[in-house]
Amino acid sequence: MTDNRRILLLNGSPKTERSNTLRVAKAFLSGFPESASVERIDLYRSDIQPCRGCFSCWGSSAGHCVIPDDMEKNLAAVRRSDIIILSFPLYFFGMPSQVKAFLDRCLPLMQPYQGNVLDSRPSFHTLRDESLKEKHFVVISSCGFVSAEEQYQPLKKQLDLLLGCEKYTTLFCPEGELFVVPQPVRQRERYLEDIKKAGAEFSEHLLLTEQTKKKIAMPMLSPRGFEAVTAEHWLSLH
Ligand SMILES: Cc1cc2nc3c(=O)[nH]c(=O)nc-3n(C[C@H](O)[C@H](O)[C@H](O)COP(=O)(O)O)c2cc1C
Repeated sequence: MTDNRRILLLNGSPKTERSNTLRVAKAFLSGFPESASVERIDLYRSDIQPCRGCFSCWGSSAGHCVIPDDMEKNLAAVRRSDIIILSFPLYFFGMPSQVKAFLDRCLPLMQPYQGNVLDSRPSFHTLRDESLKEKHFVVISSCGFVSAEEQYQPLKKQLDLLLGCEKYTTLFCPEGELFVVPQPVRQRERYLEDIKKAGAEFSEHLLLTEQTKKKIAMPMLSPRGFEAVTAEHWLSLH
């Protein structure tokens, strides 16, 4: 099967190449046909200054930010992509600061807010460019706790408001530290194989079934097993 869609992978872990979440994102992409083109931006290596809140992008500079950093280039990458994958660790029930800085700096993509009523559109801000509505967003995240279900509630609420309920696909992965410890090899391989299957499912249907999402949110090990295999890892940091 050929796939001419352009994929943008936004790696939002400060650990860049050593990111647990990136392992999941790479496994997900391995399920796509080889013809799919992937562009990657490491957000923590990108010069993204905080939004200044000046609203120039909604005024005199019409759709452009006045800050001279990498965001102009990053937003051009968003515009030319069909599928945008945000890959980041969960930090205190939300996204890491550089990912938030990136999202704040997406304000130029939106029209000024003029009392628009919150509804089920992709964002309650009208988008400047109609073609942005056609994009598919995938959020891949790993966390340190055994229960992804509970940990991701605040982030899910934020994404629902930002992107619109049901307008994006999530892969929320518990027990992220299992990607850095030697064991359990078999469970990890099986899990990454499931992620690859999810990638194949998404590349074909542009969505994941509830069953697939549930499978991915299931921990690889019980809380006790998880504690046992990660204990040495935490001690090694002392
Ligand atoms: C500052 C900080 C905050 C974190 N907050 C949470 C959290 O709220 N819930 C959780 O389950 N894990 C939390 N974690 C653990 C990470 O989400 C977990 O280690 C993740 O797998 C790291 O992914 P990465 O290697 O892609 O950066 C936190 C880690 C750090 C460093």
